Amino acid sequence: MTLKIAVLKETNSHEARVAATPETVKKLTAKGISLTVTSGAGAQASYPDQDYEAAGATLASDNDKATKDADIILCVQSPEQEPKGKAGSLLIGMLSPFKGKDHLNQLAATKLTCLSMELVPRITRAQSMDVLSSQSNLSGYKAVLEAAANYTKAFPMMMTAAGTIPPARVFVMGAGVAGLQAIATAKRLGAIVSATDVRPAAKEQVQSLGASFVMVESEEMKQAETSGGYAKEMSDDFKKKQAALVAETIVKQDIVITTALIPGRPAPLLVTEEMVKSMKPGSVIVDLAVEQGGNCALSKIGEIVDVDGVKIVGIRNMPSRLATDSSALYARNLLNLLNLIIKEDQIALDMEDDIIKATVLTKDGAIINPNFSN
Ligand code: NAI
Repeated sequence: MTLKIAVLKETNSHEARVAATPETVKKLTAKGISLTVTSGAGAQASYPDQDYEAAGATLASDNDKATKDADIILCVQSPEQEPKGKAGSLLIGMLSPFKGKDHLNQLAATKLTCLSMELVPRITRAQSMDVLSSQSNLSGYKAVLEAAANYTKAFPMMMTAAGTIPPARVFVMGAGVAGLQAIATAKRLGAIVSATDVRPAAKEQVQSLGASFVMVESEEMKQAETSGGYAKEMSDDFKKKQAALVAETIVKQDIVITTALIPGRPAPLLVTEEMVKSMKPGSVIVDLAVEQGGNCALSKIGEIVDVDGVKIVGIRNMPSRLATDSSALYARNLLNLLNLIIKEDQIALDMEDDIIKATVLTKDGAIINPNFSN
């Protein structure tokens, strides 16, 4: 029997991305897999229906029709309405595993085998499937462009006959994938860039991009990184020292880009109301962590807040603003995972494989992932 894959049209109103592109559809159909794409699925990401058809897909008029006989359903975010798939089919997407128990129970109740791309482990073999990296990289870039668009001055130094414009000072908080791309982008625009992180490994990476590293000197920093490369939550004492250093740094900045996250926990609060008020009018803060609770006390999801002339940009779903590229990378991440799952045209889910074991959330109506089953 031919393996069938359905590609959903996203139902979340703030989602412009799509889980497959004509490029990935072509690669899958070349393997003899049948692809059904819901009409309009790629429209907001500039992938028209006819390109999917030309790549070998069949169009369906809605998600229910696309998923009816599907063995695998691909999505970007958890669908708002339960997909009508066959029991035991795979649902693969960024399923928000940290959203809470009710959400996980709902996923389990679909009887689909749900694989959450955010849980792909950060091991070398899985790098090509790492959606957090592919999407964060684009977010970091776009965050700087959003900052520049909301800034009423220029980023580079300009020496003109009418006088000199000084370069913008940009401070990036959190130097992971998004932060490093933000640093590189701000440097390319000509800003003077500094950055901070709790992981000591970040120092060299920041400096190699030509930015200066601002850090709290502390023994605790040596243990600030988990074996998976993520940050841990820091002690109250560390947070106090970090706040003092940030307060002293932030008053000199024009632009602050915050990207600090701790997986599965609320984002650390790094920029207080007092710090915002210490900044010059015209300064811009872009809070990339706004959907995880925010790194800035005053940021609001989906809004630009003005506090005495300081703009705090809380854009929702930053990768969706670059939907063509973020979809292209996400779709390739999915394709690489599918290559691991599909063997000889059939689904072969090896629960002993580290990548599969970490990624499967629910199966046969139950939450089976040991990190989420309690
Ligand atoms: P993330 O999105 O979870 O967090 C962003 C950044 O915020 C991190 O650098 C984190 O250390 C920092 N942060 C957390 N709490 C903070 C605080 N209180 N103050 C300042 N900064 C704080 O992390 P992301 O971007 O996903 O990357 C984490 C690490 O994993 C990086 O070193 C990255 O290079 C590494 N990585 C490794 C991969 C692999 O396959 N081996 C793939 C992708 C990333």
